[in-house]
Amino acid sequence: MGSRKARDFIDLAEHDGGYLLHLLDLARRLKVGRITGRLLEGRCLAMIFRKSSTRTRVSSEVGMAQLGGHALMIADRDSQMGRGESVRDTARVLSRYVDAILIRTFGHDEVVELARDASVPVINGLTDLLHPCQVMADLLTAIEEFGDDVSGLRVAWIGDGNNMAHSWLNAASRLGFALRLACPPGYGPDPQILARARAAGDVEMVDTPADAAAGARVVTTDVWASMGQEDEQAAREAAFAGYCVDEALMARAHPSGIFLHCLPAHRGEEVTAAVIDGKRSRVYREAENRLHVIKAILLDLIP
Ligand code: CP
Ligand code: NVA
Repeated sequence: MGSRKARDFIDLAEHDGGYLLHLLDLARRLKVGRITGRLLEGRCLAMIFRKSSTRTRVSSEVGMAQLGGHALMIADRDSQMGRGESVRDTARVLSRYVDAILIRTFGHDEVVELARDASVPVINGLTDLLHPCQVMADLLTAIEEFGDDVSGLRVAWIGDGNNMAHSWLNAASRLGFALRLACPPGYGPDPQILARARAAGDVEMVDTPADAAAGARVVTTDVWASMGQEDEQAAREAAFAGYCVDEALMARAHPSGIFLHCLPAHRGEEVTAAVIDGKRSRVYREAENRLHVIKAILLDLIP
């Protein structure tokens, strides 16, 4: 503790493709047991959660335990941060206790500020803008299915231009795979993130879910109203009609195409039960891969 950290894990676009592939390879070696041991013995991860979580929290806590370290939960409702203590003071104090900080919050700027003021690595466990750890787990799932050549993938994003869509865009900009997005009018991705991804990679907005799904190896979607948007649910249900991933849409994908969803899912809204519970769904493997990916990130970031 105290020395300057090498890097944070906040935004996939901040890392080059080689580094992302290195993390994915590390995750796979951890998963198959080629890397074992209490490699983070005595190390501690602070986990700040200002939004709900099942997968991110549990995979991080279990991941630290499996690596011989410890993770501690700092929930908004019973921390001083939840009562308004500054991000700066929180970052400086926590840096004197722990070896890394994972944070899930609303505003992305808060994570950037935390990373600026912390002297230990900061991991983005989801903001309104990005969800990088999840897309890494999704990529690991795709690699397991289709092999190492991520650049040859064709991915269809159906639905909201949200934090997941943004992290898919950032991944495409770094790894070169084809990404087609179909979003309802008014619910597209952030124009700057889209422009950067289009400039760097094979990325296109298309008019319909059917256009996006055509020939895709991975068809993926997310809830229509993310955390913090609960009061928009009714308006979004109206706007997203026609953006449900159903069997007819999956039939447009590549014959070996799979369905991914970060979970939690709303069956009957963004995806039918027949698809998410069907043969082409890999959502539980995808969820498991959160564990292997966060272990790789923790191992790489914690000195
Ligand atoms: N996919 C995901 O991040 O799940 P949680 O909200 O349960 O962490
Ligand atoms: N877009 C969703 C992802 C949840 C894991 C949300 O932000 O609520």
